Amino acid sequence: MSGVTPTHLRHAMAHFATGVTVVTTLEDGHDHAMTANSVTSVSLDPPLVLVCVRKDTGWHEAVGSSGVWGVSILPVAGRPAATWLSTGGRPLYGQLSRVPHHRGELGVALVDDALATLECRTSALHDAGDHSIVVGEVVSSRADARRDDPLVYYRSRYTSTR
Ligand SMILES: Cc1cc2nc3c(=O)[nH]c(=O)nc-3n(C[C@H](O)[C@H](O)[C@H](O)COP(=O)(O)O)c2cc1C
Repeated sequence: MSGVTPTHLRHAMAHFATGVTVVTTLEDGHDHAMTANSVTSVSLDPPLVLVCVRKDTGWHEAVGSSGVWGVSILPVAGRPAATWLSTGGRPLYGQLSRVPHHRGELGVALVDDALATLECRTSALHDAGDHSIVVGEVVSSRADARRDDPLVYYRSRYTSTR
């Protein structure tokens, strides 16, 4: 058995600076949204990305039944949304009522004030310990080339590149 505890692993990986996204999905017409920094590009042809999702999140259950999801890459100004959408025990419904958003072609919510957005259809779901790796085929993507202000997560804190 490995001597690496969850605390050790979390501490080590906290030194890997990432961007911050909001991932969204739909279940029975309701939006489920959560903050995620595990989003990674996987393949360009076909276009695939992944997100690692804890099995005990509401989002995990919802994406399993809907099969479609959105990714919104947040700017620094998206920090309140990131904080809200990672708060345990928030109401299941109306999670996005305070986060301005629009709908993509798959119907999933995309944050208005995002650096870039993607819409994905789940192509594989891999079991990975207490998480699942959700791989999605990207069916649409948009990026705002004028933006230069990503929200960054580093050592368990939000920061910026400036
Ligand atoms: C910066 C940041 C990144 C996160 N990234 C992930 C992630 O990639 N996968 C995940 O399952 N949870 C991640 N979380 C935790 C979820 O956002 C949090 O557990 C959320 O409340 C889960 O949604 P639920 O309350 O609807 O279950 C992250 C939290 C923060 C603050």
